[in-house]
Amino acid sequence: MERYISKRIKNIPKSFLTDIFKLAADEKVISFGGGLPNPKFFPIKGIQNACNKVLEDDGANVLQYSITEGYLPLREYIAKRYKDKEGIDVSSDEILITSGSQQGLDLIGKTFVNEEENVLVEKPSYLGAIEAFSVYQPNFCEVVLEDDGPNIDSLNEVVDENKIKLFYAIPNFQNPSGITYSAEKRQKTAEVLRKQNMILIEDNPYGELRFMGEPVPSMKKYYDNTMVLGSFSKIVSPSFRMGWIYAKKEFIEKLVVAKQAADFHTNYFTQRVMYQYLIDNNIDDHIKTIVDSYGEQRKTMIDAIEKYFPKEVEFTRPEGGMFLWMTLPNNMSAMDLFYKAVEKNVAFVPGIPFYAGEKIENTLRLNYSNVDSEMINTGMKILGDTVKEMMEK
Ligand SMILES: Cc1ncc(COP(=O)(O)O)c(C=O)c1O
Repeated sequence: MERYISKRIKNIPKSFLTDIFKLAADEKVISFGGGLPNPKFFPIKGIQNACNKVLEDDGANVLQYSITEGYLPLREYIAKRYKDKEGIDVSSDEILITSGSQQGLDLIGKTFVNEEENVLVEKPSYLGAIEAFSVYQPNFCEVVLEDDGPNIDSLNEVVDENKIKLFYAIPNFQNPSGITYSAEKRQKTAEVLRKQNMILIEDNPYGELRFMGEPVPSMKKYYDNTMVLGSFSKIVSPSFRMGWIYAKKEFIEKLVVAKQAADFHTNYFTQRVMYQYLIDNNIDDHIKTIVDSYGEQRKTMIDAIEKYFPKEVEFTRPEGGMFLWMTLPNNMSAMDLFYKAVEKNVAFVPGIPFYAGEKIENTLRLNYSNVDSEMINTGMKILGDTVKEMMEK
């Protein structure tokens, strides 16, 4: 069997999460494990109306093949939103609609990464990106994250010692850590990247989900050679599988070739439905509803950590997004904690799949967006008590 499998896929293990989620799939389990938006905010009625409208108004066209770049009014809408929200001038030619930002990651790997080239990622990083890039067989280099962004000494060191093609970063409410780069760290990061004029991939699916603190400008403002990935998954619905890449036109042209080979274009019908939904509804009000709730849920989780966990445990305090990151005392394994917690019907994701290089075993990711406040309190008490029991042994 093995001889049939390509070198590209052979050495990539099946996502570790599949096994973990099997254990946590039971309905009794309070799961802080998934990366799911809260389904109570899916705009079912708005989507239903948008569906009816596009079918009634333009049925035959919306069911036809379309162009690879994506539905022009949707690209214009996204470009305008960059102008309105970030003050960045973006042309619709600089936007490529993708089948989720996950596809954006794959297309970037396909278009820009050759075997054995160095790709720099954060430590920890988004495991879906590590997996997507791994298919193109790069070497991964890592930069340590601090509470306000990359450790600049560590960044300088890795950039001085390696020729790096691109840096993949999630500067807003990072998955998995919840960390956001400060303006100062953005500036300093840009200075280091300039040494090699490498490409920066700013993956930004959570940027609109800020519930406290001041917004910080996109890395694009600090560093021109940046491609930005965006997504409707966390602000409308992930099942649409709809995201985009914002990049220079010359890059988009090459990415279009990669996308043509992959799927011709992102589902055109759902692009039309998404656009109709966006223009017929107030998306900012909708996002505010989500953000208010996630802010409350995050507060409940942090209050519960302070109440139920031993003081040796460290954790991040995200200003937005869906996750926080916990560091257990040095000698404790998050994997051991996971197995003990699952026996008590509580789940989370141990940190190890989020590292492209050295695996740090005493870290873990906690999701608060998809668990209501009462369950957060119950689940976190169980988890805190389990950590205390393990420390006593
Ligand atoms: C950092 C990051 N990038 C990309 C994705 C993929 O999102 P999408 O649903 O747009 O494919 C996720 C999903 O959770 C994510 O956390």
